[in-house]
Amino acid sequence: MKDLRQFLDMLKKNGELLSITDEVDPRFEISEFLRQVDKAGGPALLFEKVKGNSARIAGNLVGTRRRLALAFGAQSDLELLEMYQKRRARRMTPRTVRSGPVKEVVIKGEKKVDLNALPIPTYHEGDGGPYVTCGILAAKDPVSGLRSMGLHRLHIKGPRRVGVHLSNPPISRFAAEAEEKKKPLDVAISLGVHPIILLASIVSSPTEDKVAIASSLMGSPISLVKGETVNAEAPADAEVVIEGRILPNVREKEGPFGETSGYYFSDESHVIEVTAITHRESPIIQALHPTVHEVSLLGGPAGEAEMTRMLKERGFAVTALAITPSSNRTHVAISIQKKHESEPRQLLHFILSGVPYIKHAVVVDDDVNVNDAEDIEWAVATRFQGDLDLVVIPDMRARSIDPSKKQGNFMTKVGLDATVPLPLRERFKRITVPLEVTEKVAGIVSRLWGKGVKSQ
Ligand SMILES: Cc1cc2nc3c(=O)[nH]c(=O)nc-3n(C[C@H](O)[C@H](O)[C@H](O)COP(=O)(O)O)c2cc1C
Repeated sequence: MKDLRQFLDMLKKNGELLSITDEVDPRFEISEFLRQVDKAGGPALLFEKVKGNSARIAGNLVGTRRRLALAFGAQSDLELLEMYQKRRARRMTPRTVRSGPVKEVVIKGEKKVDLNALPIPTYHEGDGGPYVTCGILAAKDPVSGLRSMGLHRLHIKGPRRVGVHLSNPPISRFAAEAEEKKKPLDVAISLGVHPIILLASIVSSPTEDKVAIASSLMGSPISLVKGETVNAEAPADAEVVIEGRILPNVREKEGPFGETSGYYFSDESHVIEVTAITHRESPIIQALHPTVHEVSLLGGPAGEAEMTRMLKERGFAVTALAITPSSNRTHVAISIQKKHESEPRQLLHFILSGVPYIKHAVVVDDDVNVNDAEDIEWAVATRFQGDLDLVVIPDMRARSIDPSKKQGNFMTKVGLDATVPLPLRERFKRITVPLEVTEKVAGIVSRLWGKGVKSQ
């Protein structure tokens, strides 16, 4: 099975990994390295010498589309999406094994377990403490027994105490069901896995086993090991697993934490009591900076593939779909081949009510490139009238981290129909020169200037 170390080796071979050999402080410095190198479009980082700890930290792993494609073994973006769709459609069941590398070191017992032994970064000045941002919680539904997982921020509060932010299913639902029975929920939290497992953990599918989704996307069954102290499983090849119990009817202040939204956010959150830590010898901890491109890449292409499938299954003539990169997974642009005037509105209602994390959506014709922000803005500027083409759906459930949310955790969703009215097609013909002229000029400019230019 593929693991984090194999992925790091592959990045290295492809010139996509930079080792930082200077000593780096997990308090703010790791965070700032990740941010600066990401802003410059740089490689993944491996921090070899972490202040006060022998473990290493890796970050910005799938920080570009090329590195995400490498995780899937794809050569291009297009191939990546095709591979995603194909593998997602193939069902694969994870298998349970007796042991694995993550059991090389087993620490259990109240006196021995100490989370402070792990190098957990503090990301921003206003954060309430160190945060695990890449912790995948795996648990079982106390009612149906369904196994699944989710990515949840974890506030390290003490040697065995963790605040966990649970606002999304399936884990929030499992915890609520356990609480109804006045029981704790057992969890196994993995830190440091192959990026496909991380990506699968945030696929929006509350009723499926996301470990099975990860297996399908990986193309081979994930091997799981049982917990030492909990009724939960984790990937056998993880770097570190934290075992524990989400306590029923306990809420404590968690945060603040500088979020993916770019703002600090704190909440009254659940608490995990840690019962064991298992890890590989000399583990590598993964750090996910909340505002780097890796966050949108983990959710983006997968979310795009999931939404495209959902819309096509409903018969919408979607030609392309893109979650716009700086929107923190809240904006989507969709191009369609419109056949009937009602289609954009129907699509907007469907996507805005069906996908919880999408707040704003725009529908354009298929002559607009949804991956080009300038093209989308041009379509809105020239094909949209506020009184005719706007869809407003008030009082939908908000994302907890949205600082503009309304009292009671509500938000308003908005859709823009920026398609051309069917009878007016001729008026909206784009201005162009013949294609052969475009190509000829592009060739000459590229030869003389050494750079490619944007064609039509
Ligand atoms: C970077 C990142 C961090 C996340 N952190 C949390 C979190 O702290 N709490 C939470 O409930 N969900 C969090 N999520 C979302 C959950 O992992 C969720 O299970 C997953 O996205 C699928 O559900 P959804 O897409 O319908 O929200 C996070 C997602 C991402 C991409």
